[in-house]
Amino acid sequence: MTADDDPLGWDTSAAAGAYRDRDMRLAERLIFPAVLERLSGSSGPGRLALDIGCGTGAVAARLAATGGWTVQGVDPSADMLDIARADRAHPRVSYRLFDGRSLDWLADGTVDAAVCCLVYCTDPDDHRLAGLTAEIRRVLRPGAPYVLADLNPAATGVVFSTLRHGEPGAVYRDGDAVATLLRLRDGSAMTGVTYHRSLDRYRALLTEAGFPSPTVELPTLPADGAAEETAAETRIAPYMILTTHA
Ligand SMILES: C[S@@+](CC[C@H](N)C(=O)[O-])C[C@H]1O[C@@H](n2cnc3c(N)ncnc32)[C@H](O)[C@@H]1O
Repeated sequence: MTADDDPLGWDTSAAAGAYRDRDMRLAERLIFPAVLERLSGSSGPGRLALDIGCGTGAVAARLAATGGWTVQGVDPSADMLDIARADRAHPRVSYRLFDGRSLDWLADGTVDAAVCCLVYCTDPDDHRLAGLTAEIRRVLRPGAPYVLADLNPAATGVVFSTLRHGEPGAVYRDGDAVATLLRLRDGSAMTGVTYHRSLDRYRALLTEAGFPSPTVELPTLPADGAAEETAAETRIAPYMILTTHA
């Protein structure tokens, strides 16, 4: 792992190794419970959920263990998948390498739910994400939920307890590269690059793929402790959660 060194691309063993060690406390409170909750009405024995860009498997494992889902976690990074298979194996989770766009092994309307957490922000290619979003729409059964969680584009430059994306005071436009710092569990940090998209751009990626315009949640933490009273995440949402249905 590099500590505050050169930014890492996401499809490298160094990035995957660092990402394995990230401080997940904010995601555990602000993303994962909301994702499980948004999918809960569709879960049930034998129901299939896709975790698109599953990385090291944090969401896939929770969907299986807590939500009762059968899960396919898919990712274009072999290194991320190696970690997922080693750290987050579960009898109802399979991990699969794919090209970041095509879900061609899945027939139309055969998937009961899809989630995609912190993925669009790591991919600079709008064309690929448009194709991927259309594929997600194709494989979902009619009415099935799609939950897309990502960095809140209105929170660039804010210093959260476990991350910062963007420089304070800087203005970012769609497609801009954004220096992004993630805290690791040992207190050090990794730096990487994410790609800015406005909320309108996210909405357009969904609606152009045939999804209805999503509901948008911007969760913050309650200011219920001395340390948290001053934390930025009690005032500003680090992440956004978009929910739509096929
Ligand atoms: C920041 S990690 C998030 C991993 C995981 N979803 C999580 O929340 O912990 C971003 C992941 O997205 C993957 N990724 C990048 N572009 C992608 C694409 N077009 N389709 C699917 N996954 C992609 C990367 O390989 C990486 O594993």
